[in-house]
Amino acid sequence: SAAEKCGYSHFMLKEIMEQPEAVRKTISPRLVNREIVLEELNDAKELMKNISRIYIVACGSAYHVGMVGKYAWEKLLHIPVEACLASEFRYSEPLLGESSLVIVISQSGETLDSMAALREAKRKGSKVLSIVNVMGSSIARESDYVLYTWAGPEIAVATTKAYTTQMVLLLMLGNYLTKQLNRIEQDEYAAIIRELQSLPEKISVILNNLEHYQKTAANYFNHNSIFYIGRNLDYALGLEGSLKLKEKSLSNIVEVKSRGAEVIALTTELTVNQIGSQASEMFVIPKTHLLLQPVLGVIPLQLFAYYVALNRGCDIDKPRNLAKSVTVE
Ligand code: G6P
Repeated sequence: SAAEKCGYSHFMLKEIMEQPEAVRKTISPRLVNREIVLEELNDAKELMKNISRIYIVACGSAYHVGMVGKYAWEKLLHIPVEACLASEFRYSEPLLGESSLVIVISQSGETLDSMAALREAKRKGSKVLSIVNVMGSSIARESDYVLYTWAGPEIAVATTKAYTTQMVLLLMLGNYLTKQLNRIEQDEYAAIIRELQSLPEKISVILNNLEHYQKTAANYFNHNSIFYIGRNLDYALGLEGSLKLKEKSLSNIVEVKSRGAEVIALTTELTVNQIGSQASEMFVIPKTHLLLQPVLGVIPLQLFAYYVALNRGCDIDKPRNLAKSVTVE
């Protein structure tokens, strides 16, 4: 109902705007005296002693979080990390056993493929840690360890605040494990903690500029195709930006063909001058630690997708042929 949307025209926009608070709720109980404290995982040192390989398993947007996790965690932990689509996991003969740790990421905690991957991992003797939003969900109940993203209920089919909180938590977890294993420099660790603390504020800075995304979307909503280009962490971010847009606009009839390609650049304050001359439009995010950039970077892409969908008259909160979670095979 309109009341539940708190004056917003769609749940998606409401949930985008709730991100500073959702991210704060996810981070702040876990930052104690400038240390990351994960009470859910108090035997981390013991757990990590024999781990030589990590699988991050998820579907849809949560899989994109996993891809960011792969890049970040390998940099931090120096052990092989693979991001796997849950629907492929069982069929790819993963190297499961006591020396593998499996991380399952799921907003609903009910996605069937993710659940099946979890069971397979446990059957083969791997420990499973899940990052879940819905308390008491199936995946949460069957995992050895659960970290909750305190995003609150997410109603719009296209995920926004669950996605950013999953990303924050996965990055916190990676840094926590690295610290437990004494594999991180104190300066680097302190910098990450500082930047974690300022994330909610930096997200608000982006959200204070809605008109810019509204205007840009109005200029581009009728283009035939939009390509998201990026490397490494930004490759995963590009996939998520593209998915956000497709969730709403794929089924639309294209009214106007694009002429030559134009460039919208997503960049940080640092490189804004270099990039500015090349691009028709810019989405600028505040400067932060490199590993935390994807958390801020996704927000302009969510807003752009939202306003493009609005211009195209799409059913934003319940896109055609899509389900919030897929609980059947
Ligand atoms: C479906 C939804 C996606 C979602 C994915 C994973 O495919 O359409 O938006 O990202 O499931 O859902 P989960 O609840 O496991 O995060």
